Amino acid sequence: MKIARRIDDLGTETAFAVARAAAEWKARGNRVFPFHLGDIDLPTAPHIVEAMNAAIADGKTGYCPGPGIPELREALADDIGTRRGMRISPDQVVVTTGGKPVITKFLQTVMDPGDGVLYPNPGFPIYESQIAYLGGVPLPYRYIPTPDGFAIDLDHLRSLITPQTTALIYNDLQNPISAESTDAEREAVAQIAQEHDLWVLSDEAYFEMRYEGESRSIAALPGMAERTVILYTFSKKFAMTGSRLGCAVAPRAVADVLSTLNTNDESCTTHFVQWAGIAALTGTQEPVRLMLDEFRARRDAVCGLVNAIPGMTAAVPQSTFYVFPDVTEAVRRMGLADVGEFAQQALHSTGVSFCTREHFGTRQPGEDREYIRLAYSGIGLEDITEGLTRLREWVADA
Ligand SMILES: Cc1ncc(COP(=O)(O)O)c(C=O)c1O
Repeated sequence: MKIARRIDDLGTETAFAVARAAAEWKARGNRVFPFHLGDIDLPTAPHIVEAMNAAIADGKTGYCPGPGIPELREALADDIGTRRGMRISPDQVVVTTGGKPVITKFLQTVMDPGDGVLYPNPGFPIYESQIAYLGGVPLPYRYIPTPDGFAIDLDHLRSLITPQTTALIYNDLQNPISAESTDAEREAVAQIAQEHDLWVLSDEAYFEMRYEGESRSIAALPGMAERTVILYTFSKKFAMTGSRLGCAVAPRAVADVLSTLNTNDESCTTHFVQWAGIAALTGTQEPVRLMLDEFRARRDAVCGLVNAIPGMTAAVPQSTFYVFPDVTEAVRRMGLADVGEFAQQALHSTGVSFCTREHFGTRQPGEDREYIRLAYSGIGLEDITEGLTRLREWVADA
């Protein structure tokens, strides 16, 4: 019995292998400091849970409309539009089971086999996986380190475009590197998209996970709403990763296709979870503020401790819950073959578990720096301090 050939092109989140290695190490009686998780160790707020339970008790357990219940589409159009300075109509909103399905459904809608799609690298690994799986041509664009973090290499991005390029995936407030566009960079990306008539997927999973300043959406720039699909998710902002609730905001014609894809794929998003989503959007935002306060303190601790480790440096990101230190000198000083060996030995010597650059898309020719990703959404301040102190002692003593 054969497995379909297209499965050869399907990637995955190899970061799950890191979680497995950490779990195995823990099961053998060792202490683990989990910096690999993109999950959140804080519970969903009580008023959201209560709304979900009330919806179940009220019989909101049957099928519901494919693009989402009207009340949630209205609340999303209002909230997403207000926060981005855009006018969004509820029929542009298609509710999905988390943010991730928006990536696949966007590509299914706008990309034919053989079409090129630009995407960030390092970046969320599902972009590369789904472009290849659906028969597109992956066009990874790179970043340049700056004193404040990272900037998109716009010349490189432009150089990848061919007449077959149909779409650009843009993840401002970026996983894993926490890069954030300046206004000028965002405008340059928008200009490129318009010049080359590209569809844009604006992955805004971390739009509200920020500690200073204000997030902006490329979709709000002139001429962009008609070519942009926004990926929105409840996962991070409302600590609802397992509830699987998100949406796409798309031009009407694309929204109609996304809705039909929903009907084909999952019929609808879990009915009672959508009522919890309404409570999340319209209820108190105090839990979001408290979570951001907690994450800001964690970020400050992580950045302070990382920059005290010999051979490791990291800029202080203003958003997301990731820090992406350059560990090139530490790896070299320790005489290790590569960052993979660094990660493996760090786990076994200190219990500190993290992903590396290799988990976020295929490494590009000419890359000569080594990076790791430290996620601080699933580890408290005390463990951050103890774990990174152990890491410092291990690197310093080598
Ligand atoms: C950049 C980015 N986009 C999308 C997602 C998917 O989020 P969700 O859990 O809502 O599917 C993630 C999750 O980690 C992410 O980091």
